[in-house]
Amino acid sequence: VAAAMAAERALAMATCTAPVNIAVIKYWGKRDTDLILPINSSLSVTLHQDQLKTTTTAAASRDFTEDRLWLNGQEADVGHPRVQACLREVRRLARKRRGGAEDTAALSLSYKIHIASENNFPTAAGLASSAAGYACLVSALARLYGLEEELSEVARRGSGSACRSMFGGFVQWQRGERPDGSDSLALQVAPETHWPELRVLVLVVSGEKKPVGSTAGMQTSVETSPLLKHRAEVVVPERLAQMMQHIRDRDFEGFGQLAMRDSNQFHATCLDTFPPIFYLTDLSRHIIALAHRYNAHHGHTKVAYTFDAGPNAVIFALADAVAEFVEVVRRSFPPATNGDQFVRGLPVGSATLSQELVAAVVTEPVPGAVQYILHTKPGPGPQLVDDPSQHLLGADGLPRSRA
Ligand code: DP6
Repeated sequence: VAAAMAAERALAMATCTAPVNIAVIKYWGKRDTDLILPINSSLSVTLHQDQLKTTTTAAASRDFTEDRLWLNGQEADVGHPRVQACLREVRRLARKRRGGAEDTAALSLSYKIHIASENNFPTAAGLASSAAGYACLVSALARLYGLEEELSEVARRGSGSACRSMFGGFVQWQRGERPDGSDSLALQVAPETHWPELRVLVLVVSGEKKPVGSTAGMQTSVETSPLLKHRAEVVVPERLAQMMQHIRDRDFEGFGQLAMRDSNQFHATCLDTFPPIFYLTDLSRHIIALAHRYNAHHGHTKVAYTFDAGPNAVIFALADAVAEFVEVVRRSFPPATNGDQFVRGLPVGSATLSQELVAAVVTEPVPGAVQYILHTKPGPGPQLVDDPSQHLLGADGLPRSRA
């Protein structure tokens, strides 16, 4: 029995999945770059993991000689300060939980760890993966060490937006007041079941080039943009309260209008940064104009766009508008090659556009500009993967060769 117990403790493994989130009240700017404390609260929608997710396996063994990390099958730098911050914080909480005395049945905190992480979507698509990545890392480590507390504060140390991926549905990241960051955490505003008709279309654009990263970009904005200061102090507090009410009321008109305005203001602060940062492209502006023409044609807000620090567009719509708007996008950006794979994710019905709609909305088609559309919806937070055959690491602690 003693030998069996020792063998059991020799290797422990846990696998979790975590979602991507898209902010409708944007986070942009830190008041503490080390602890990742934001200058304003933010609010996001967690996207469904059937379409976009990260899977991470964390293993600890007395036989491992060093900490190691693999991302999408390639060995990566485990010494990255943000990975180390997450590891350190999880281990600190595990130690605290054990009250200092080493519990013999518990996994030794001195064992080295191996971590493997992969996305179910192409990394090259430029879909924010650091939020899902760090939320998943923290969830898997927490499972490994048997932690049960809420860990958005730890995920925040990996990437600010990652703290919001620790919950499903509609999530607020409360900026907090304390200098140590202990009150800068994510809170669920409403679960993913709250608004069953809400849908999300990710317009993955072609030929993107690497823009300025969020971390560097927002720091320059904090240092130079008076608009960002005004936004954080005056605009966001008001908008956050309004957005929460729109979500509670399932008011798409209010939700969509405010999401568009907030995306636009975030990009305005980028232009107000010196030297300026440009995330919106000609194609982004094309999509923005298209959404406004579409809404104007219908006389109310049927679709709402939002853009982060990259060129992909995220569109919110209610389920009954999806088929028609997808057809509008197909007509406006006729697919170059992959016509049959243009729409991915949740099924989309067919729609016939009226002559009036086409004339008013589909003005100047740009062939091939949108690579594909991913149809998804709000979804749950991180999940534990029970099935051991799904671990990304084998019994030897090395990445399993993927078929
Ligand atoms: C534009 O969370 O990637 O997507 O905290 O430096 O890792 P770091 O930045 P990150 O910034 C995300 C910025 C954004 C808006 C948002 O998600 O709220």
